[in-house]
Amino acid sequence: MTETLSSPQIIKAQDHIENPTMAFAKDVLTGLNKSPKRLSSVYFYDERGSQIFEEICDLEEYYLTRKETEILQRSAAEIISKLPPNTHLVELGSGSSTKTRILLEAALASFGTTQYSPIDVSAEILTDTVKDLNQRYPDLQLEAIAGRYEFGMDYILKNSTSSKCIMWLGSSIGNLTRIEAAQFLREVRKTMGDQDSLLLGIDLRKGPEILEPAYDDAQGVTADFNLNLLDRINSELGGTFKRNNFHHQAVYNVDEGRIEMYLVSDIDQETEIKNIGAKISFHKDEKILTEYSYKYSHSEITALAEASGFFLEQQWLDDSGWFSLNCFKPQTNAAELRAL
Ligand code: AVI
Repeated sequence: MTETLSSPQIIKAQDHIENPTMAFAKDVLTGLNKSPKRLSSVYFYDERGSQIFEEICDLEEYYLTRKETEILQRSAAEIISKLPPNTHLVELGSGSSTKTRILLEAALASFGTTQYSPIDVSAEILTDTVKDLNQRYPDLQLEAIAGRYEFGMDYILKNSTSSKCIMWLGSSIGNLTRIEAAQFLREVRKTMGDQDSLLLGIDLRKGPEILEPAYDDAQGVTADFNLNLLDRINSELGGTFKRNNFHHQAVYNVDEGRIEMYLVSDIDQETEIKNIGAKISFHKDEKILTEYSYKYSHSEITALAEASGFFLEQQWLDDSGWFSLNCFKPQTNAAELRAL
C-alpha cells in the first residue's frame, strides 16, 4: 500500500512498521542487555547523524566517497552504454544523490529523458533531493520513494515495466555481515528481471594504516558521529548518557576483513533510560559495538554475487585499487544458489 506525500513526486511506501520510537527503544534495550553490548548502526542517521555523515564523506581520511566518485567520473558513460535504452535507474539509500548525478548526466546524454527512482528512508532528504534534481535536470522523470528498501523495491516491481538498473553505492553493503549481505541481495534479485542489472559500490580490503584513520579521523568527526548515538538515546528515550564518559574506537579486524566501531566507557558508571525504565551499568573499558564495516577481496565479491543469484559482469576500480564499482547481472538459472 502506498501514500503520496506533499510532493506528487514522492511516494511513501507503507511498511506498517510499529511506532519508530518504540522500535528504537526495543532495539536499544535488547542491545544494551547483550554481552557484549551493542547498538545498531541504522540508528546513526537521525537529522544530526545524517549531517555528520555528509561531513565524513568530505574528510581527507575517508577515501571511499572520493574514490567512488573518481570511478563514476571515468566510467559513467561506459556503464550507461551497456544498459538497454531507457533503462529505469533505481537507487537504494540515495541520500542527496550527489554521486549519482554523474550517472544521471550520462544517462540523460545517452537516452534523452531518463526515469530515476531514489529510495530512501528519510522523506526530508528526498524532499530536498527532488527539488534540487528538478531544477538541474528538467528531462529527468523523477519519482522518489520514501521508505525501507524492501518496500521501495516492491513498489518499483509493481509499477515499472522498463528494464532496471538498481544502484547501491557508497559501500553501504559493508554495514551488513557477509551472510546478511547475500540474504539481502537475494531479495533484491527476486525483484529483478533477467535483463536488469545491479550496480554496487564495494570498499576493498586493505591495510589497517589506511582503514583505521578512515574511521577515526584527526578532527574527530567520526567520533562525533558515533557519540551522537548516545545523544539520540538521551533526547528520544530520556537517557542520561554523559558523552564525555565514553570515547570512540575504530579497530580493523584483519581476519574478518571489517572495521569494528565501539563506544568505550571511560569509567564504571550507571545510566538510566527513563522512557523505558531501564538502568544499564558499564564497567571501565567496557565497549558497545556500534558498527561493522566489511571490506571485500575480489574473490569475496564474486562469491557474494554467486551466493545471491548473480554473476559479476564487470568491475571498475579507482587508480589506487582501493574501491570497486561492480555490475552484477542475474544468473538466469538461479534456482540453486551457492553458499558463501
Ligand atoms: C554508510 N557506510 C557505508 C559508512 C561506512 O563506511 O561503513 C558509515 C560510516 N561509519 C563511519 N564512517 C562512515
